[in-house]
Amino acid sequence: MMLGEESESADYWKACGDEALANGIKGVIMMGAHWDCLGDRIEVATNPSPGKSPVAYVHPSKYVNYKLVPELNSADRCISMLKDGGFNVGANPKFEWIHDTYLILIRMFPAGCPPTTIVSMNARFDPHFHLRVGSTLRPLRNEGYLFIGTGGAVHNLYRNVWAPMLKYRDNFAQETAPEGWALEFRQSVEDCMTQNRGPALRRAITRLMKHPQYRDAHATDDHFMSACFVAGAAGDWEDEQEEGGRLGAETWELTNMVS
Ligand SMILES: [Fe+2]
Repeated sequence: MMLGEESESADYWKACGDEALANGIKGVIMMGAHWDCLGDRIEVATNPSPGKSPVAYVHPSKYVNYKLVPELNSADRCISMLKDGGFNVGANPKFEWIHDTYLILIRMFPAGCPPTTIVSMNARFDPHFHLRVGSTLRPLRNEGYLFIGTGGAVHNLYRNVWAPMLKYRDNFAQETAPEGWALEFRQSVEDCMTQNRGPALRRAITRLMKHPQYRDAHATDDHFMSACFVAGAAGDWEDEQEEGGRLGAETWELTNMVS
């Protein structure tokens, strides 16, 4: 899969990691696409020595030896900030990290994992709820924490073309162009991120779930929530003055999926 192979996106993530280190980040606050909690609950990972859950189609040599560095102090801070924000939130001291987060960290920071805190999603997949998780934790950005959301712009496993992967382990084969609905939604994601700043970015990202092609692009909502989280963290009024969003890289795989 893309997270395990060399790709233009992987190179770009490395460049982003280098830039973050050059800016002296204190740590990383992260939401992925594979950990969600039931009811109205969210959790923050507090396992002091988390294992890694294995990942299909990626050779273990690409990740087994990478040492994960959870940051428990900032996990506690995230929990208390989220509690103060009215969330039903608690610690999860048993959580094992999943490839949606650790493979990105390996790509961004190959020389060593920065202190990292992972925040879960909520399984009701409400875009405004996840936006508010991001906006509640936003003050940590001012202290030097890097926020990362990992998911996908177009991510529908039911509509991918799996044959080249199953026959030849070739996830990047594009025997045909991506289908129209995938191109259409991908363009809207780019437009929303590059053409909006501040609260307009928050509105644009959450509104994407009403896009006519949304359900084709995301058969399940899990890979879209981190975009809402990041829009919450980066979409305040004061962010209107900041540089707009940029499409740094994109990689298509399995014909119809793009990240
Ligand atoms: Fe995933």
